[in-house]
Amino acid sequence: MVNAIDVLIADHRMIRKILGNFHRTQPRLNLISKSLVRAVKSHAWFEDQVFIPAFENERLLEKKFVQEIVDEHKDIEVLMASFLGTRSEDKDLWEAKAIQFKALMESHFLKEEDALFPICSRTATPQKLTILVEEMRRRQPEVLKIL
Ligand SMILES: [Fe+2]
Ligand SMILES: [Fe+2]
Repeated sequence: MVNAIDVLIADHRMIRKILGNFHRTQPRLNLISKSLVRAVKSHAWFEDQVFIPAFENERLLEKKFVQEIVDEHKDIEVLMASFLGTRSEDKDLWEAKAIQFKALMESHFLKEEDALFPICSRTATPQKLTILVEEMRRRQPEVLKIL
């Protein structure tokens, strides 16, 4: 049975892959930028709107920790816009923004993979994690509106 954590981890894998192909001289930079924005925004939306609210009252999760993850989604969006708005001809600035954006993404993913997801996985029933996948599928049209 598919579970919500596996779906979110598969997203991380896909986003890491896109970032791995993200080089300044890459000829398809525009196309890759669009895929990156779609993947990052929709992933964060599902976490904010579906996954995290389902664990709101979980006593094993520190509210401050969860809030930090939610806040980072906003930071990621701001840094991503700043990075993608930088002209690739401006080599040093582009590279510097790329390094910072990639570092923020990686540290964010690790917080989820090393702490948030294992705690949620320990406390949720397999049924709950499957129902969350169904909810994500059902709410797919809503996410399209924010892209
Ligand atoms: Fe996240
Ligand atoms: Fe995530």
